[in-house]
Amino acid sequence: MKRRVTLTLVIAGFSVALLAFSPQVEDTDVDELEALLPDDDGDGKMLVMVYCTGCHSAAETKHNIAGRKGSNKGTWGDLVNRMVTVRKAPIPREDIKVIVDYLAKHFGPPLPSSGEAGPEDSQTEGP
Ligand code: HEC
Repeated sequence: MKRRVTLTLVIAGFSVALLAFSPQVEDTDVDELEALLPDDDGDGKMLVMVYCTGCHSAAETKHNIAGRKGSNKGTWGDLVNRMVTVRKAPIPREDIKVIVDYLAKHFGPPLPSSGEAGPEDSQTEGP
């Protein structure tokens, strides 16, 4: 009996802790990563923030992406696929596509003529 009560209290406490921590992520690195990644109408930004930071820190993810700006879609595809096949990142196939499209669109080489989307704010990089 007593044990069960204790366990319940522990679980309740844990849930409260989870609730208290999940909504506001007060990590400046996360903020910086967020600032680096442009918003668009797709889920790319969210998927990058969720999946890549599963293994890399936010700062590392930011560095990884900013440092590869200008890579073409094939290069981004190779990278993300390598994370999945070699590093065992648990990213479903359809999400891989969204992530690669997102990275190629916002961190790809400047396209001479792409049908849609003009140059967005691409001045996010510092020295
Ligand atoms: C399952 C864990 C895992 C996930 C998820 C993951 N990575 Fe990695 N990544 C690694 C490991 C392990 C390495 C090799 C060690 C290192 O360089 O940190 C690596 C290396 C890298 C490198 C540098 C070396 C290279 O192979 O070019 C880049 C860039 C990179 N990851 C980007 C990403 C991006 C972008 C994502 C999100 C799409 C991602 N990673 C998701 C585990 C992961």
